[in-house]
Amino acid sequence: MAAPPKSKSKSLNQGLGSAKAAKKDEFYTQYVDIQKEVEAYLEFNPKTFRGKVVYCNCDDPFESNFFKYFAANFNKLGLKKLISTSYDGSSIAGKGTLFEEYTAGNGKRARPKAVAVTLDHVKDENGDGAVDIEDVKLFLKRNKAARVALKGNDQYAGGDFRSPECIALLKEADIVLTNPPFSIYRDYVSQLVEHGKKFLIIGNTNSITYKEIFPLIKDNKLWLGCTNFNVGMFFEVPDDWEKYHHIDKATGKKIARVSTACWFTNLDHGRRHQPLKCMTMAENLKFSKNLKGKKAYEKYENYDAIEVGTYKDIPSDYDGVMGVPITFLDKYDPEQFEIIANGDDRDEMEALGVPPLGPEYVGNVGRRKVGVASTKKAAFKRIFIRHRSRSTKRTKK
Ligand SMILES: C[S@@+](CC[C@H](N)C(=O)[O-])C[C@H]1O[C@@H](n2cnc3c(N)ncnc32)[C@H](O)[C@@H]1O
Repeated sequence: MAAPPKSKSKSLNQGLGSAKAAKKDEFYTQYVDIQKEVEAYLEFNPKTFRGKVVYCNCDDPFESNFFKYFAANFNKLGLKKLISTSYDGSSIAGKGTLFEEYTAGNGKRARPKAVAVTLDHVKDENGDGAVDIEDVKLFLKRNKAARVALKGNDQYAGGDFRSPECIALLKEADIVLTNPPFSIYRDYVSQLVEHGKKFLIIGNTNSITYKEIFPLIKDNKLWLGCTNFNVGMFFEVPDDWEKYHHIDKATGKKIARVSTACWFTNLDHGRRHQPLKCMTMAENLKFSKNLKGKKAYEKYENYDAIEVGTYKDIPSDYDGVMGVPITFLDKYDPEQFEIIANGDDRDEMEALGVPPLGPEYVGNVGRRKVGVASTKKAAFKRIFIRHRSRSTKRTKK
């Protein structure tokens, strides 16, 4: 359990800090983004969700498009069960609703309490010949037993993904899908990994180089999803947000753009089995505009590796280690490349024998000269890779 706050002022600061963090968490995934991403997995393997228990654990079932998508497509996907839990700490619960039920009451129900909703079938409840979200609404209205109140405990509020009630549901799940709170993303991913769950979640591209995340990417336990990498995503945000991108004409909802949001998963998909087409070093030096005027790829001063400023310039015929930007991960085929290290992780680099650079290199030199060493500027982040077939050949010798 967290240590009690030491003083009143510290406690107030912590409160304001976490309120700010929670506020940043309040952005809501659009249905179309979930649909696009999920359908990409179905293209690769139509049985991805067949017979599976799907759990959306940061998702108010009455508000989340994750719940709405999986409920509406329950039969098409062949789900065994869909579970969705809301969180007592949510500051917008009951404000943006998919179902009228929240707003239709007697007006006294301002902030709904955390619930777990479970669906184990979806059938034509209203007898209109179609099975769709209208049937889910009716089912929930008719079957109060499908929802259970979540009380939490001394440590966690009801519906907190770390609470014992939610962990019990997690254990039951095969695949977890959600857009979790970014402010506690490390904890969130650690929990999924600890419980050995399959997942498809939205996160921040900045998290790629986190100490808790990168090793998972390196070991092929987590990778990028299929859509939206490096282009940003649009989310619905609460009405009181002042900074937003536009107002959706159809819904009247405020929409914000998050340039660093993308999907992370450990579900297999087709894109990660498409090898990147690379030219030779000589061809790149001749044709690449980034390498114009250069006679050779530049080498780092502190590591035996070449700098490759964009995945487009990765040479097909270089045996050694290459430093590439994190955008490479979108093109990463684990059968083609091996990930060696995260240049942003000092411990990892030191373990490879890469000495830390002196202060003269921090912040005042060109990016190529800084090479692997600067942790001060995100722009200098590099991932170190090499061709897998070549490294395998080397080991065999
Ligand atoms: C970024 S929003 C996304 C909501 C929804 N998953 C979606 O994609 O539209 C993150 C949600 O997680 C909820 N949340 C915050 N902390 C949580 C926690 N500790 N456990 C469970 N949910 C939490 C927030 O209330 C918020 O609704």
